[in-house]
Amino acid sequence: MPRQTVVALLYNDIPTAPGSDSTDDSSVDLSPEALGFTPYFDLEDIPAEEEYAKIESALVEAGYKVASYNIKDRFERLFKFLARRKIDVVFNLVEFFHGRPEEEMLVASFYDLVEVPYTGAPPITLANAQNKPLAKSILRSYELPTPRSMTIRHMDEFRSRHSLRYPLIVKPACEDGSGGIENASIVTSLKALRSRVEFVLQDFKMDALVEEYIEGRELNVAVLGNGEKRRALPISEITFEDMPEHLYKIVSFQAKWDPLHEAYHKTIPSCPASLPKSKTEEAQRLALKATEALGTRDYARVDMRMNAKGELFILEVNPNPNLSEGTGIARSAEAAGLKFKDLLQTIVESALERAKRRQMD
Ligand SMILES: Nc1ncnc2c1ncn2[C@@H]1O[C@H](COP(=O)(O)OP(=O)(O)O)[C@@H](O)[C@H]1O
Ligand SMILES: [Mg+2]
Repeated sequence: MPRQTVVALLYNDIPTAPGSDSTDDSSVDLSPEALGFTPYFDLEDIPAEEEYAKIESALVEAGYKVASYNIKDRFERLFKFLARRKIDVVFNLVEFFHGRPEEEMLVASFYDLVEVPYTGAPPITLANAQNKPLAKSILRSYELPTPRSMTIRHMDEFRSRHSLRYPLIVKPACEDGSGGIENASIVTSLKALRSRVEFVLQDFKMDALVEEYIEGRELNVAVLGNGEKRRALPISEITFEDMPEHLYKIVSFQAKWDPLHEAYHKTIPSCPASLPKSKTEEAQRLALKATEALGTRDYARVDMRMNAKGELFILEVNPNPNLSEGTGIARSAEAAGLKFKDLLQTIVESALERAKRRQMD
């Protein structure tokens, strides 16, 4: 019998103190009357540990031997684990280090330095994609459509004359997970623009990316594989049908993370998105080109918006996108006939193939 492939499932999770999550507090009234809306999803957050356990059992189901390990934000733990264990490949779920998303790339660099094969994007891709203005410049240089924009580093660079058309959306340049993106991020006047840019510069201590706001549909295009095998999956759409009038139709921070916020329950994924075949193919072509431009590997997700004229705009390319079951990429894989375990296996096999090719070079 061939030896079982050993996959190290590495993640970085610093547990929060019990009771720090508002949904833990049993004194909060969670009835629709008290909330002011009818919840669509569960009101309880799924603990991160549970997500990792699901990935682990799907990998086991796919036939791998799995060693799960929480690096707990400590380099010695990562170092010792890799020195001690005989593993074939790391399934890299580490998204930040030292509490900083910018240091995600350092962990990937370390795998490269110690020559351990790993799933997902290399450090340079993680770095480029993290910086939204830079990623947009890369997309533009490949003639890929992305909303018109400007980047502001200091308030003294702020000009009241600019060529962008309102409404605009102001984003922290290097956040993800919708950090700093909420209803107030969308501005329709110079005064509101100035004040939101000021807020981002001060509170996030990073540049402000000001983009034209694309009113319309939101599409997520997942991409699997590399080189000849790179392929786009069926498109997943975030629908905003029941979003109340006072909220913009965006996937805000609250929509992603706060089960007690109405937006969380009014941003509902639907897959495959109902689109004309030619539009689906166009979005998939753009996603393939965009992931190649940024140099993602094994799996990625491209976020797009489509305006009323059917024009597509790339908002961002996500290397190593969230894999929890029920999210964009897992849903798209399922629509393509890939169960969760098949999706994970495809990712592992493409990382192993790359490692084999490297050995032969
Ligand atoms: N230019 C834009 N036009 C319309 N909506 C946008 C625009 N930029 C961002 N959004 C909304 O904000 C969400 C998060 O923005 P995104 O650029 O994807 O950042 P993140 O890395 O935080 O996911 C998007 O999913 C979308 O709903
Ligand atoms: Mg996004």
